[in-house]
Amino acid sequence: MKVFEPIQIRDVVFKNRLVMAPMCMYQSDNSGTVQPFHLVHYPTRAYGGVSLVIIEATSVESRGRISVNDLGIWSDQHIEGLRTLVDSVHQAGGLIGIQLAHAGRKANVKDEAIVSPSAIPFSDQYVCPKELSILEIQTIIQSFKEGAIRAKKAGFDIIELHGAHGYLINQFLSPLTNQRADDFGGPLEHRVQFLKQIIQEVRRVWDGPLFVRVSAEEYASGGHHIEESLRVYEQIASLVDVVHVSSGGVVPVSMKPFPGYQVEFASKYQSLGHIAIAGGLITTGEQIEDILSSKQASFVFLGRELLRNPYFPLQLAFKANRKDLIIKPYERGF
Ligand SMILES: Cc1cc2nc3c(=O)[nH]c(=O)nc-3n(C[C@H](O)[C@H](O)[C@H](O)COP(=O)(O)O)c2cc1C
Repeated sequence: MKVFEPIQIRDVVFKNRLVMAPMCMYQSDNSGTVQPFHLVHYPTRAYGGVSLVIIEATSVESRGRISVNDLGIWSDQHIEGLRTLVDSVHQAGGLIGIQLAHAGRKANVKDEAIVSPSAIPFSDQYVCPKELSILEIQTIIQSFKEGAIRAKKAGFDIIELHGAHGYLINQFLSPLTNQRADDFGGPLEHRVQFLKQIIQEVRRVWDGPLFVRVSAEEYASGGHHIEESLRVYEQIASLVDVVHVSSGGVVPVSMKPFPGYQVEFASKYQSLGHIAIAGGLITTGEQIEDILSSKQASFVFLGRELLRNPYFPLQLAFKANRKDLIIKPYERGF
């Protein structure tokens, strides 16, 4: 089966095509440090057999947290806990990536400035953000770079930039949330500058696999659809290894997701020669094999299925007569 075929990106070998999607667990405290919960939750999914665990959105600034219970990487004090977490996933036979993030106007933390490219709130339930100055933009770009330096010190195999779901990078990309008139706003080539400069800075300190998560479709008129999203990616593709394809979250809209609803977006990137991760409501081996064998993506991400069943990949291996892939201590369970 295609799902169990290894693949190499730069120096990193992935033992299969299954990726645990980043999911905020809101189990830290106000310090943003790794807690006992994380040291059980993440390695369990690695023992369960995914090749790569991408940990939840981890904020490069304290004001960039979605909640006060997010993980953080804005200080050197975060490195030690993250290193323990990295070791725990490696011991479980998995690779581990970190999703570097900044929530911008979707931050929900008391006593911190809420910022965005333009002073437009997400909804009337949210604080109106302060428009970032050029100097402040440069500072946040450096915070992403410092986050990458710390991630490297902690031993992560992969860095992913959170450019999706309406968080700060996405707020710069989308014309719905970026109404600036300077070099960071206006035409698409300007709106991509924030992400592009983050990538350029991260690349100075990180030569491992770099992923970018994108919202390929914003489900709103005047927002990005797949055509614009592909144009954005063309601007950064030479410095990025993998596009992790998601959608939505930029503005409040209601849409009805269905199994595999984002796969067609991923397939557009893949057909242009990029390495894409597809997913969204994927729960069966048949769906996964279909995506991979039809070359719609090189990887498949699993989110909520892994919250219900961390051992999903082992069960898939068993069903495929690949008992050799079941780790020794669990052999008698199959
Ligand atoms: C509890 C929860 C937390 C999430 N947190 C993040 C996150 O930190 N970063 C991110 O990019 N996506 C996040 N997502 C979105 C998931 O990564 C994934 O794209 C989404 O759940 C759809 O995939 P699924 O149907 O396999 O769950 C989160 C989803 C859930 C359910």
